[in-house]
Amino acid sequence: MQIDILTLFPHMFDGVLSESIIKRAIEKNIVKINIINFRDFSKLNNSQVDDTPYGGGAGMVLMCEPIVDAIESVRDDDSLVILLTPQGKTYNQKMAYDFKNKKHLILVCGHYEGFDERIRSFVDLELSIGDYVLTGGEIPAMAIVDSVVRLLDGTINEESYISDSFTNNLLDYPTYTKPADFRGMKVPDVLLSGDHKKIADYRKEEAYKRTKDRRPDLIKEGE
Ligand SMILES: C[S@@+](CC[C@H](N)C(=O)[O-])C[C@H]1O[C@@H](n2cnc3c(N)ncnc32)[C@H](O)[C@@H]1O
Repeated sequence: MQIDILTLFPHMFDGVLSESIIKRAIEKNIVKINIINFRDFSKLNNSQVDDTPYGGGAGMVLMCEPIVDAIESVRDDDSLVILLTPQGKTYNQKMAYDFKNKKHLILVCGHYEGFDERIRSFVDLELSIGDYVLTGGEIPAMAIVDSVVRLLDGTINEESYISDSFTNNLLDYPTYTKPADFRGMKVPDVLLSGDHKKIADYRKEEAYKRTKDRRPDLIKEGE
């Protein structure tokens, strides 16, 4: 898979791409991630890419030309171009599974007051990571990259994510590690029993109970 991230702040990605599971996926050539700076596409003095809004008002607005030129420099028939915006569809785990099968994702990060409205005509999809407003699209892009890359074949064992929350419309079951007794709080006996069938049944039941309690909407959606 190839992921191109279009941003004004490339260094924000340094840490995320050079640590842990994403770093390993890049080293194993499971994913290729390019960070592209809009400024490299500016034709104006001082590499300007933003300007004040028509009609007045606060903040700066990303201009059409450098953003659209940046998109068009990497887009091909296999690309899915995603604009990060709080006004988009809310991103979820189902989309992460869908994106895992794409060959090429292009993530476009807004910043400042946002972007010129006409940029929307050059993207395939608008996504939000939740009903709150961040400074820029960089953190949403990181969230999407992380959630997709961990699902790519070869990144982590499938066993590590098939029971994750939101897979099969359930939250994950509770997990414990040593010690078996922490300040009087004991690990459920069944997990120490060594009986794999009983353990699997217990986990299924707990995942269901937990989902019913915390996220009944997921169970409804699954039905
Ligand atoms: C300060 S925000 C601009 C918000 C814009 N004025 C609005 O209210 O829709 C700057 C940029 O951050 C990104 N952003 C902020 N919150 C986001 C969210 N919840 N999901 C995805 N992107 C977000 C978008 O790329 C946005 O263009």
